[in-house]
Amino acid sequence: MATPSQGSHARTRKACAAPQVLETTSVRGVSSGRIHSVEFSIRQATQADADRIAELHVQAWQWAYRDVFPDEFLDTMKVGNRALLWRAALETPAMRVWLAERDGALLGFTSTNPSRDPGAGTSTGELGALYVRKEIAGSGIAAALLAWATKDLHARGFQPLTAWVFEKNQRARRFFEKHGWTTDGEVKVETIGGKSVRELRHSLQVRRSAG
Ligand SMILES: CC(C)(COP(=O)(O)OP(=O)(O)OC[C@H]1O[C@@H](n2cnc3c(N)ncnc32)[C@H](O)[C@@H]1OP(=O)(O)O)[C@@H](O)C(=O)NCCC(=O)NCCS
Repeated sequence: MATPSQGSHARTRKACAAPQVLETTSVRGVSSGRIHSVEFSIRQATQADADRIAELHVQAWQWAYRDVFPDEFLDTMKVGNRALLWRAALETPAMRVWLAERDGALLGFTSTNPSRDPGAGTSTGELGALYVRKEIAGSGIAAALLAWATKDLHARGFQPLTAWVFEKNQRARRFFEKHGWTTDGEVKVETIGGKSVRELRHSLQVRRSAG
């Protein structure tokens, strides 16, 4: 299990050569006692990325949500259906989707938007999604995407920030917790794939410096 929080270190620099790449980031971490380094870029997604986002999204559900949903539901998820949803999301002006890529390969993505919760204040921002490929989980790239999304939401004036996480998604809960997000007591129950699932809202109340 990688432990980027133990002895890990992230370095960030602005990319000048490729205008569409907003940032090139190198994450160094410790995995099974060995230091590894992964360099990747972060850029905003466009409509042309909807299929790739959907493909990673479905793969991530299939590796990460085995404790949340039945195998039958996960194994029959359709990338095409998700691509339709992402196409619509990418057309929503207040929704931004950010991609982490290396050599043109999509490693992970995150999305940021105003809170969609009923009754939420207009200044409440939401981390709508955060997904990385199974092979790079634990590498620190998810942490870099979270920092990027947080920075984007704060730059747009949103505070506090919220994110919904399935109650049974222990890995994500631990991930948010170690980055300072805490459960705020809000719970919702959704029916997905014919199953009722509980989600816990996590909040980041205090403005933190991104990095
Ligand atoms: C959630 C996600 C973005 C986190 O990224 P990651 O690179 O896997 O996160 P990290 O490895 O840095 O942190 C995960 C932590 O959970 C711990 N963990 C792993 N499995 C766990 C489990 N079953 N129970 C409790 N903790 C667990 C890890 O040990 C680590 O904690 P540590 O650093 O204290 O050792 C990534 O796993 C992912 O894409 N998951 C699928 C999609 C998802 O759940 N998204 C979040 C909701 S939108």
